[in-house]
Amino acid sequence: MKLWGGRFSKDTDALVEKFTASIPFDRRLADEDILGSMAHCRMLAACGIIGAEDAAAILKGLEEIKEEIGRGELEFSLALEDIHMHVEKWLTEKIGAAGGRLHTARSRNDQVALDLHLFVRREIREVELLIKNLQEAILNVAEANFDVIMPGYTHLQRAQPILFAHHLLAYFWMLERDLARFRDAYKRADLMPLGAGALAGTTFPVNREMVAEELGFASLYENSIDAVSDRDFVAEFHFNSSLLMTHLSRLSEDIILWSSAEFGFVTLDDAFTTGSSIMPQKKNPDVAELVRGKSGRVLGNLVALLTMLKGLPLAYNRDMQEDKEGLFDTVDTVKMCLAVYAGMIGTMKVNSDRMYVAVDGDFASATDLADHLVRKGMPFREAHAVVGRLVAKCVQEKKRLDSLTVQELADASPLLGEESLKLLSPQSCVAARQSRGGTAREAVAGQVAAARVALAK
Ligand code: ARG
Repeated sequence: MKLWGGRFSKDTDALVEKFTASIPFDRRLADEDILGSMAHCRMLAACGIIGAEDAAAILKGLEEIKEEIGRGELEFSLALEDIHMHVEKWLTEKIGAAGGRLHTARSRNDQVALDLHLFVRREIREVELLIKNLQEAILNVAEANFDVIMPGYTHLQRAQPILFAHHLLAYFWMLERDLARFRDAYKRADLMPLGAGALAGTTFPVNREMVAEELGFASLYENSIDAVSDRDFVAEFHFNSSLLMTHLSRLSEDIILWSSAEFGFVTLDDAFTTGSSIMPQKKNPDVAELVRGKSGRVLGNLVALLTMLKGLPLAYNRDMQEDKEGLFDTVDTVKMCLAVYAGMIGTMKVNSDRMYVAVDGDFASATDLADHLVRKGMPFREAHAVVGRLVAKCVQEKKRLDSLTVQELADASPLLGEESLKLLSPQSCVAARQSRGGTAREAVAGQVAAARVALAK
């Protein structure tokens, strides 16, 4: 007999039982479910809704069930649908009729909402720590390679010389915003839904504030219908995770390119790469590739949740049971990616010589030559054309910008001379970008200091 079987005259079809059950995945919420039930039980007793003796038996029973689940001693069954029914059934088997009092003034609708809030709240804190870990790893690599110069790219074409640290720190700040987004999302997960009942509230004189306080919630839902229908906090977790994974995916793309023989900018540690079953020479950046690939499923989980929610009338609909698997998957994926990434970045070898060759033999200093003409009074648009013609000449004659003769420079513009060539080294180009947030050493040092302060918060 089902816990809700009173009004039914037939057994549930076996396929329907299998189709509707959530226990194969929501058993993961067992701890949250028991924690919430304990708080609910204490409140019921404190408000005189159930007797003190029954409450004591329920609490003791729940505690034991928690341990038995931990030891793998309890068996789950599809017939009992979900974790909430399982716990209630085990409880009644253990303590008898008193167990049947636990569900007073409660519905699975507010119960599952509470479980999810507890789960998301805890996971946000864990993700925050892992983000910080990765930020620390990035910052350490940036500091350890502070003087390394590389080509900065636009359109994946060499653009201007930059400090490698500057490039890497761009990811630090993306992660800093990700962290802020998770912290902010915590506030919306920090709302206590219990007491909403099925949707309309409860006829019992409950004390919702007491439950909120015991479970450490900052506040509670003001509207019982909202309380059981809201999955915004789950959607926010998905969006924040999706953007975080998008950032990691972009970093992965950089690292995959950099570790190719064509770039050779970094060498990944053997412990963070894998080989090929056929090609003995291969060493592949699979970790970065998988992070890039896994960003797809995290984005997919966001879209799946929003799509599931958008057509739902208020209040609870069974569709909402579909909120869990994607959430669990995203939690696991994001945490794994963050953890493995910190190790990969931290052990990566930076090949400064390769980066320097790439930036030195190119025209990455062309903007600086144009800026030089501007400082001598030429309008920027004209300067752009003058340098453009010089670059074309160099390309045609297969030579470097800094190997132009004084005469060739003077032919291009009387404003150019010997001293113009001094501006063309990658070091000078980097050193000249002193603007706040720019790539000059001083500016990047300031950035590193700001990053350290951010990390210490
Ligand atoms: N397993 C359900 C879920 O995850 C719990 C809530 C069920 N409520 C209901 N009225 N059937 O959404």
